[in-house]
Amino acid sequence: MTSTDVRPELAPGLAFPPGFTFGAATAAYQIEGAVDVDGRGPSIWDTFSHTPGATYLGHTGDVAVEHYTRYPQDVRLMADLGLSAYRFSVAWSRVLPEGAGRVEQRGLDFYRRLVDELLGQGIEPWLTLYHWDLPQALQDAGGWAARDTAARFADYAEVVHGALGDRVRHWSTLNEPMCSALLGHMSGQHAPGQQDPVAAARATHHLLLGHGLATQALRSRGADSLGVTLNFTPMTPATDRPEDVDAARRLDGQQNRMFLVPIATGEYPADVVADLAAAGAPLPVEDGDLAVIAAPLDWLGVNYYFESTVAVGERPAGRPTSFIGAEDVVELEPEGPTTTMGWGISPGAFTRLLLRIASQAPGLPLVITENGSAWPDEVSDDGAVHDPERTDYLLRHLEAVTEAIEGGADVRGYFAWSLLDNYEWARGYAQRFGLVHVDYATQQRTLKDSAHAYAEVLRAHREQG
Ligand code: FCB
Repeated sequence: MTSTDVRPELAPGLAFPPGFTFGAATAAYQIEGAVDVDGRGPSIWDTFSHTPGATYLGHTGDVAVEHYTRYPQDVRLMADLGLSAYRFSVAWSRVLPEGAGRVEQRGLDFYRRLVDELLGQGIEPWLTLYHWDLPQALQDAGGWAARDTAARFADYAEVVHGALGDRVRHWSTLNEPMCSALLGHMSGQHAPGQQDPVAAARATHHLLLGHGLATQALRSRGADSLGVTLNFTPMTPATDRPEDVDAARRLDGQQNRMFLVPIATGEYPADVVADLAAAGAPLPVEDGDLAVIAAPLDWLGVNYYFESTVAVGERPAGRPTSFIGAEDVVELEPEGPTTTMGWGISPGAFTRLLLRIASQAPGLPLVITENGSAWPDEVSDDGAVHDPERTDYLLRHLEAVTEAIEGGADVRGYFAWSLLDNYEWARGYAQRFGLVHVDYATQQRTLKDSAHAYAEVLRAHREQG
C-alpha cells in the first residue's frame, strides 16, 4: 500500500522560475486550539466536531496543536525550513464572535502578532479569510444557504483588512468553496452536516457571491494581490460507455467547473445549471450576481491531491454522494498505492490539470495553495521521522509543477499541505499531513525527513538565484 519509489535525484535539480514562492499551509481550526480564549465565539466546526458520531472517535479541534500559544516556535520552524511564505487562515469567530457587529480586538491582535513574527523572519504572510469555520451565530441565521451570509462575509473581510492590510499583501477569500457547499450540505460529512441538495446549491452560489463581494471590498481598500483557493479533482470516466462519460461530466461540472468558470468568465456552465435544475436544486442567481462573482483577481489558488475515476453504479450503503443529483454515480477505488486517506497518487494528472486550468482561465497566474499526502508516521528510535512516501509524493508533485510550467502554465508558487500534523476535520488526528511531526500528548514538534528534503529543494532554488 505504500510506495518506496523514492527518487532523490529529483532534488535539488528541480528548476523553478526566479522569484517562485515556496511555502507551507495550515488552517485556523486545524491548528490553533484555544477555542474559548480571548473572546472567540463558536463556529460550525465546534458544533459539528462535538456532535456524537460526526468525527473519527469524536475528535475535536479544542486543543489541536496549540498554535495559538506556540506560534513563535512554529514560525521559527518555518524559518529553519527556509520557507519564503506561509499560508494560514483567520478564524472569523475570533474577530467577530457573533459573525457580524461587535469586533473582538483580542482576536485581531493574535493575527497581528503572528504576522509580525512572520515578517520578522522574512516570511511573507498569505492570509485566507475563510477556511470552513463559519461563526455559529451566522449558521443559526441560515448559514451559507442564506444570501445575507455573503454580505456578512464582505463586512468581515473589511474588518480584517482594516487591521492587517498594512502588513499583509496576499489575500485569499475562500478555501475550497466546493467542500463548504457540497461536503457541508450534500453528503454532510463536514460542518454544518446537512444532507439537503437545495441548501447545497444555495450555499454554492452564496459562497461565490461572498467571494466576489469580499474581493470588491478589498480591492476598493487598495489590495493588489487577491485570490481564491479552489480544489480540483480531475474526473475520468471508467469506460467509454456514454453513461460513464456523462457521469464524469456531471462530477467534473460540480467539482471543478461550477466554481472556476463563473469566477473566470462570469457565467455558470450551462450543463451544470441544467443538471442542478433537473435535480430540483437550482442555483439562486439574481441580476448582477455573476458580474460580482467574476470580480478581477490577481491569482488563482489551486489545491490538488488526487484524481478520480467515475462510473454509473450502485453506491455503497451509508456513503451519500457529495454531488447534487448524482445518486447513481460512484468513484472507483484507485489502482496502485494509496495514502492513509485512501487517495491515489497521480502527479501526471496534476500537470495535465494545471495546463487545463491555465487554458480555462487564461491570463490568471496560478499558485498551488495546497498539495500533500498523509502517511502513518512515527518517531523512530533514532529520533527522526522517516517518511519516504511523503518525500516521494512531494518531489514528484513538485516535478509535475515544473512540467506544467515548461508546458506554458504560469505557476508562481507552491504551498505544501501541511506545515504541521493537525486536525484533519472529520478524520480527526488519525491522518498526518505535516512536514513536521507533532506528538499530540506532548506537543513536541519534530521535522520529518520530507521537511529536510523540502528545505533542500528550497536551498538549491535560492542558490540558483
Ligand atoms: C483540503 C483542506 C485542508 C486539508 C487537506 C488535506 O481539502 O483544504 O484543510 O484538510 O484537504
